[in-house]
Amino acid sequence: MRRPLIAGNWKMYKTPAEAAAFAAAFREAAAGFAGTAEVALCPAFPALVDVSRALAGSGIALGAQNMFWAPEGAYTGEVSAAMLRDAGCRYVILGHSERRQYFGETDEGVNRKAAVALENGLIPIVCVGETLEQREAGVTENVVTGQVRGCLAEFGGVKIAGLVIAYEPVWAIGTGRTASEKDAQEVIGLIRRTVEELSGAQAAAAVRILYGGSVKPENTAGLMRQPDIDGALVGGASLDPAVFARIVGAAEEVYRP
Ligand code: PGA
Repeated sequence: MRRPLIAGNWKMYKTPAEAAAFAAAFREAAAGFAGTAEVALCPAFPALVDVSRALAGSGIALGAQNMFWAPEGAYTGEVSAAMLRDAGCRYVILGHSERRQYFGETDEGVNRKAAVALENGLIPIVCVGETLEQREAGVTENVVTGQVRGCLAEFGGVKIAGLVIAYEPVWAIGTGRTASEKDAQEVIGLIRRTVEELSGAQAAAAVRILYGGSVKPENTAGLMRQPDIDGALVGGASLDPAVFARIVGAAEEVYRP
């Protein structure tokens, strides 16, 4: 049974003080949740340690938004997997479309980072998704399966089973335009079949695949009801503790055993 994951990606929002205040408020709001869905907060690097402290003992996980593959060294401006682990992270988002667009992130780089993250006990949340142009040109399937293959190249089945994939159509991120339940399920089902081709049925059955792109309290349940969707990566709507709590609540309703 795949445990669903609802992860909040705060991007470049919230100072450490703001982030810690959110974490404390959210912790209260989340106290009533059954825990059927796992919840993770992914603040910017400077806020990781404060949020980790604010979440201690709550069962809410911490994640980072990026990392570098080298264990340490002269890489000014970069952060290693060991540093993230030490700061209390369980997850790390890799290959987000904003990193691909503004910072030249490639599938190959994501592949290296994901392997290093796993070796260091971090769970990568590997992001894939097509642009509007690609969707309109009818190449979504090729683009997304190509990204999955590139990002997960040379992984054994066991490793793939332990990571998380997030399907985030670029045209749905921050636009208020969510993919339809049917479209999201279709691509996510395809991603699962691609994982099966890469590493077998067991890995495909175990890997968690999230949807991301304008997830809101109102559209959460419909998306989460799709058979291959195992949770959500939430940007804008994760910035307000009450709104994010409603998303988690809606997901818990759907996944309640
Ligand atoms: P959004 O962002 O929910 O604001 O669309 C999702 C993401 O970028 O992870």
